[in-house]
Amino acid sequence: MDRTAPVGVFDSGVGGLTVAREIMRQIPNERIVYFGDTARVPYGSKSKETIIRYSRQIIRFLRTQDVKAIVIACNTASAYALETVAAESDIPVIGVINAGARTAAAVTRNGKIGVIGTLGTVDSGIYKKVIQDIRPELEVTQKACPLFVPLVEEGLLHDSVTDEIASRYLSDLKSKYIDTLVLGCTHYPLLRSTLRRLMGEDVTLVNPAYETAIELKHLLEEHDMLRMEESGADKENREKYQFFVSDLAERFTTFASSILPNEVRTTKKINIEKY
Ligand code: DGL
Repeated sequence: MDRTAPVGVFDSGVGGLTVAREIMRQIPNERIVYFGDTARVPYGSKSKETIIRYSRQIIRFLRTQDVKAIVIACNTASAYALETVAAESDIPVIGVINAGARTAAAVTRNGKIGVIGTLGTVDSGIYKKVIQDIRPELEVTQKACPLFVPLVEEGLLHDSVTDEIASRYLSDLKSKYIDTLVLGCTHYPLLRSTLRRLMGEDVTLVNPAYETAIELKHLLEEHDMLRMEESGADKENREKYQFFVSDLAERFTTFASSILPNEVRTTKKINIEKY
């Protein structure tokens, strides 16, 4: 496998950019092909069968870009589709859940962990299962926060409406005296300061995006696929990071530029149903 090949990263839309951002920070030589399924977002309220079908289509598209590994940068797709698509693939495919669950199990001091995510992720029970597979004695309380995704998409990251909704969602978790909170949806790291303020300094916030970038680095090292250096073209940032979506390319470009370290110049719209 060609070490200089890009890593494929996909999400239902913009949320996976929080994972792409961590990959850019932690393994800065890697090229990335990002796909955001902006025509079919949200995934959080769709069935397992649908999410598997979408994930297969996206992986077929990413393979046309000659990616060397794939990161499912979406908690819902990781919960519903990772096992199926990883078993079908001859290149490594990882999701965001295992790394986040492992970290939560390792850092809790009082054994009480909270998990927030979409309805799909919470209904799948996957975080609870993975955490309790590692340490069965841990108490895991899950809470679906379906309004967080639209609030982030609307850019209401620091807003009294977001504060009010967040304090309602988090009250159940606070009453369980959790000391660790897993941000089990790719959009939630963008609400970190609100969540930090409402939960207090004693609660450790686990960002699976950060942990996943570390897991990807180890995986590439193990397979001897880590890219060692940048090329001249990369330095001018012409082809290092490429972005594709299924709809609303300009809107994506604006959002991506606001949260990534470098400006995103173009996003290409593709017809994902063709794949
Ligand atoms: N990216 C999704 C996740 O992490 C959130 C947005 C959606 O519902 O599609 O679960």
